Amino acid sequence: MKTASGRAFNPAFSPTPNQLAAVKTALFAVALIPLASLAYGGFNDGLGANPIEFVTRQTGTWTFNFLLITLTVTPLRALSGQHWLLRLRRMLGLFCFFYAALHFTTYLWLDQFFDIDAIARDIVKRPFITVGFAAFSLLLPLAATSSNRAIRRLGGKRWQALHRSVYLTGILAAAHYFWLVKATALIYPLIYAGLLAILLGWRAKKRIASYGPFPEKAGASLRPIRFFRSRP
Ligand code: HEM
Repeated sequence: MKTASGRAFNPAFSPTPNQLAAVKTALFAVALIPLASLAYGGFNDGLGANPIEFVTRQTGTWTFNFLLITLTVTPLRALSGQHWLLRLRRMLGLFCFFYAALHFTTYLWLDQFFDIDAIARDIVKRPFITVGFAAFSLLLPLAATSSNRAIRRLGGKRWQALHRSVYLTGILAAAHYFWLVKATALIYPLIYAGLLAILLGWRAKKRIASYGPFPEKAGASLRPIRFFRSRP
């Protein structure tokens, strides 16, 4: 496609460093709104009858929200051609970890009062805690290796392989959610699991497509194998 001046039109917007910094600052501020709203509720008696449960649930929900938002960046970039979106992915992933850490800390501190024995027993005994703990443990190395230095040290391929564990984190998070809700409230984990399935399915399809066409489709250059030089 060409513009009025005859130059090729590139639909991909490429922000200047200042514009990108502005977008990142705005995103940072927006991502802190759930925390601000919890803090506001805490100071104004607005966390309901069971504040600990409320905070645990809110931080858990926002962990899952940021996980899904982070996983949306790659397909969104591929479908829109807006490659700069990738520059926001690290911040979104770190916010997922941030809310997971708050969620876990709420459980450790306000729910279990740092009683290590009780926590260890709970992790072994209650499957939804086991699975949540596994999901959180998988997020730790991803957060620890999110810096440019860590990427350089690990090398792109190993870094990518490590960060693929985020798909397993998503599956564990969905299992955690299904396990903890009552049968009457299954609609919420179903929605989250459905969105996760779409995001993982899109990646699986891309991966399969990247292996290239099957030999039949590859065409004429392939000849059938001959077992005999001449007919027996
Ligand atoms: C990636 C990690 C995790 C994600 C995405 C996650 C997500 C969630 C979600 C979505 C909820 C339900 C919110 C609602 O009912 O609206 C929840 C609740 C909960 N999670 Fe997690 N969670 C994670 C890790 C953990 C860990 C490590 C623990 C503790 C060891 C934990 C303990 C809990 C508890 C106690 C509840 C509340 C259960 C209840 O109200 O009965 N979660 N979490």
